[in-house]
Amino acid sequence: MKPRELKKDIYCVGAVDWDRRLFDSLIPLPDGTSYNSYLIKGTQKTALIDTVNPPMKDVLFNNLDQLGIKKIDYVIFNHAEPDHSGSIREVLAKYPEAKAVCSDKCKPILIDRFMVAEDRFQVVGDKETLSLGDRTLEFIYAPWVHWPETMLTYLQEDKVLFPCDLFGSHIATTDMFVRDAGVEYEAAKRYWAEIMMPFRLQIQKNLDKIKDYKFNIIAPSHGPMHDKPEFIINAYRSWAFDEPGNIVVIPYVSMHGSTRRMVTRLVETLTRLGVTVKQFDLADSDIGKLAGALVDAATVVIGTPTVLTGPHPAAAYAAFLANAIKPKVKFASIIGSYGWGGRTVEVVAGMIPNLKVEIIPPVIIKGYPKEADIQALDTLAETIAAKHKQAGLK
Ligand code: FEO
Repeated sequence: MKPRELKKDIYCVGAVDWDRRLFDSLIPLPDGTSYNSYLIKGTQKTALIDTVNPPMKDVLFNNLDQLGIKKIDYVIFNHAEPDHSGSIREVLAKYPEAKAVCSDKCKPILIDRFMVAEDRFQVVGDKETLSLGDRTLEFIYAPWVHWPETMLTYLQEDKVLFPCDLFGSHIATTDMFVRDAGVEYEAAKRYWAEIMMPFRLQIQKNLDKIKDYKFNIIAPSHGPMHDKPEFIINAYRSWAFDEPGNIVVIPYVSMHGSTRRMVTRLVETLTRLGVTVKQFDLADSDIGKLAGALVDAATVVIGTPTVLTGPHPAAAYAAFLANAIKPKVKFASIIGSYGWGGRTVEVVAGMIPNLKVEIIPPVIIKGYPKEADIQALDTLAETIAAKHKQAGLK
């Protein structure tokens, strides 16, 4: 199939990866992903925006060949991560006149990672422009979306933003543009949680930096494009700036049923008190879904039995993950059961220093929960509900 045009002389030349199920050996991809690359033909120059993950470079080359592209003047590397820049050597070899255009911080990363010759680069500064003849590319430095070297490319005349990872989603689809807003919202939220949320404060600055630009299309390098850009911009502003909701997330693991019984009671009582609860059994949970749930949660309660004097490794993994992705939670607690002793609370609490939370007194019990333990869980639920109310969370 000949590559599709998103606007006159702007083509989608990237690859859809239907079968990939894991990213960075870490992030689940239940719906696959795509590595979007865009070709822009100006009256004088031709530019390629981002490349593709190296195993799919033949798809990119086949698309360019089908368009009859013999010469590319500029290959724009918005971001050095290999899913977008990993084909750099092959692309520059196929198009020997092309300059690799990137930010000042991106160039050394590309040289270190891909051993590209220094004279192939053209470094551009923040807000610098590059003419393609009748079209103008503007480069907007946007550090930490997703790495420190990242920039966005804005096609001024057409008002198309090429933001690489920003505003993306891991979805494999034949649709060029978002067609099912519900599906896209969930995928984009999960993607935000995994990729963007750790840099929320820097992303707030970058969202403010682009707030006066007009966009007809936002064309990210993962997932479908946005022809109604306000949808994804509003979602990002909400995730980046808004207060969390009246929501508790409970990642837990249970070995013999005691911790599970505690979770069940806590969920029942919180629900009765009008709090939304999302529980995840870590023995069989999609970590990406858990990350997505943390985006707008006000409280996280980790449930774990004591194993060999500390938390269950699955609970430790969840605590480590939550600490790394830095959700805007305000409160945290720990519940669980032990057989003869341990330091579970100290270990878990010590694993989440990035979360600027108030720790609500944990409920750690011996053996199976009894009446006094059930009461303690109800007190924990009442405390959480009261804290949410005091904080004005909705
Ligand atoms: Fe899609 Fe940060 O690379």
